[in-house]
Amino acid sequence: MTKDWGLKDLLGLERLGAAEIEAILDEAAFFKKSPPKPLLAGRLAAFLFAEPSTRTRSSFEAAALRLGAEVLGFSTAGSSLAKGETLLDTMLNLQAVGVTHFIVRHERSGVLEPLAPKVAACVVNAGDGRHEHPTQALLDLLTLRERWGSFRGRKVVILGDVLHSRVARSNLFALKKLGARVTFCGPTPLVPDAFAELGARVEHDVEKALDGADAVNVLRLQLERMEQGFVPSLADYALAYRLTPERLERMKPDAVVLHPGPMNRGVEIDSEVADGPRSVILEQVANGVFARMAVLALCDRARTAGRTRG
Ligand code: CP
Repeated sequence: MTKDWGLKDLLGLERLGAAEIEAILDEAAFFKKSPPKPLLAGRLAAFLFAEPSTRTRSSFEAAALRLGAEVLGFSTAGSSLAKGETLLDTMLNLQAVGVTHFIVRHERSGVLEPLAPKVAACVVNAGDGRHEHPTQALLDLLTLRERWGSFRGRKVVILGDVLHSRVARSNLFALKKLGARVTFCGPTPLVPDAFAELGARVEHDVEKALDGADAVNVLRLQLERMEQGFVPSLADYALAYRLTPERLERMKPDAVVLHPGPMNRGVEIDSEVADGPRSVILEQVANGVFARMAVLALCDRARTAGRTRG
């Protein structure tokens, strides 16, 4: 078990240090190679998901169950949130029922920051608005670290709808701390030049962005978060920015393709690429279970030790 950890909550990666991020990755790698132990026996996990999810929710559930926790059958749809109960009151009531871990997905950016210190249970961000999706970035990094060993000097392109993407932000924060160079690429409305202030290189020409890159993380257009007018049409976007086999050739010969899912095949990525030999997309999903086991276990250790720094 790592020493570089003192958080009962994981709300984002922006404020974590490189040692803390490496500590989670080390723990995830340990869980991947070791038989699971019931480290969370007697714990109760609740999923507060106000937005749809396939990968994040299922892999968090698998992670909790593999560590011996129980999972509460709670759904935000049909709960008293619909009657105006606040998220904090909901969490305090579920905590009174015995919940020790909240895994929360919400449409409002930063919604968990004021709430996490008010509950004794662990609070894990499973994606908040456009803000952060820390465990997605952790599983992305775990997948890349297994190939590269170190991130130092690696060039990672994040291609697509960066503006609406919590995945892009969490990846940028973590990759930069670990020494990688990050390029954001997409049309100006979705990748404003001002994003360079976050520490990414901004490039609107996809061919130039991919030249010599070690990895590309392809993002879908988040049409559900868009007003009209961000792209002329899906067909125009696909023509200008879709990851095709020809574009892939511009990257290093051993470069890999990531996608957080869900994919819109033919819009941001061709099936030939998504299902091809350079794709690590399903490895990402498999690694999600181990990254989430690490987060649940490490946060629980801080919770039981009475450490609350978040
Ligand atoms: N990557 C991701 O968050 O996928 P889901 O929305 O299916 O959880």
